[in-house]
Amino acid sequence: MIQRPLGRTGRQVSAIGLGTWQLGADWGDVSEADATAVLEASMAHGVTLFDTADVYGDGRSESIIGALLAARPGHAMTVATKMGRRLAQEPENYTPENFRAWTERSRRNLGVDTLDLVQLHCPPTAVIEDAATYDALDALVAEGAVAAYGVSVETCDQALAAISRPNVTNVQIIFNPFRLKPLDEVLPAAEAAGVAIFARVPLASGLLSGKYTATTTFAANDHRTFNRHGEAFDRGETFSGVDFEVGVAAAAELAASLPEGVSLPAATLAWIAAQQGVTTVIPGARNVRQAEANAAAAALLDGGFDVEAFGRVVREVYDRDLREAIHPLW
Ligand SMILES: NC(=O)c1ccc[n+]([C@@H]2O[C@H](COP(=O)([O-])OP(=O)(O)OC[C@H]3O[C@@H](n4cnc5c(N)ncnc54)[C@H](OP(=O)(O)O)[C@@H]3O)[C@@H](O)[C@H]2O)c1
Repeated sequence: MIQRPLGRTGRQVSAIGLGTWQLGADWGDVSEADATAVLEASMAHGVTLFDTADVYGDGRSESIIGALLAARPGHAMTVATKMGRRLAQEPENYTPENFRAWTERSRRNLGVDTLDLVQLHCPPTAVIEDAATYDALDALVAEGAVAAYGVSVETCDQALAAISRPNVTNVQIIFNPFRLKPLDEVLPAAEAAGVAIFARVPLASGLLSGKYTATTTFAANDHRTFNRHGEAFDRGETFSGVDFEVGVAAAAELAASLPEGVSLPAATLAWIAAQQGVTTVIPGARNVRQAEANAAAAALLDGGFDVEAFGRVVREVYDRDLREAIHPLW
């Protein structure tokens, strides 16, 4: 597995990491044993980055990660967590006191004195643009509560605002074949500033697995049922904001363009990881089979797969079927 610098931290993280929202809640039921097995399988395949959040299962995802890593002293993992959604996403809630309380809770859940990386969890634009936000985060670093911080964002403009701040380690943003706008300005700006980019929702919540049909349904407690139209949180977090049937057809076209033996999710993850400016891709996995397949996709970066040819099909499909609906929004 290729390892890449995590911004200016001196740490290295794998080009393909693991998103662990699935190990908390909102994706149907994942047992604790299955969650632990997903983490172990990822580590066994060279993954050195777990992305989590204090709200995934109200701390369940963090606690399962913490328990596993406590049993592995000397591990090489970086854990990136998030804070800011335990209260309403209103500017007045992003206070130094709340930051301190949230990071204390995450440190307890993860069983560490210092968080490797904490990301603001899609705060309002006013918070991203406010110098006081970064003063409060710098104070947490000075106190040793966190080693580094970043910002998870919804839009490219928010990403650019965060990238312009001197001590931001990473920006996490949705970037996948159905969400190409970050290619325009965000990735070049991040690279120039030495800010790491985490590409989240890389499989468009599973659409880019190519396994769904127009009639596929999801569990009632799965956001792919209850947030299709943004009822619970930003619509862009579910299927990347793409209409489900449009996405199913676009995924089928991308899959048909691939050579024998290369799966759509693997090609997608490799293509994302190959884009200049991307540090790591963080697919979520609900079981060991998915976690192993996703980590193994890094092997496609070794030259055996024509990433650029796939990229040409990606742009063609995006420009024809998705750009008009997606590009103006995020
Ligand atoms: N606001 C934020 O900061 C924010 C928001 C969203 C996500 N994230 C982070 O980003 C991570 C990734 O995004 P995501 O989990 O929302 O979406 P994703 O990675 O695009 O999609 C995950 C889903 O894709 C399917 N899948 C994964 N690997 C597969 C494989 N090899 N073969 C077939 N299907 C596969 C699974 O669907 P099935 O369940 O149908 O099997 C899985 O649940 C999250 O886990 C979280 O850590 C952060």
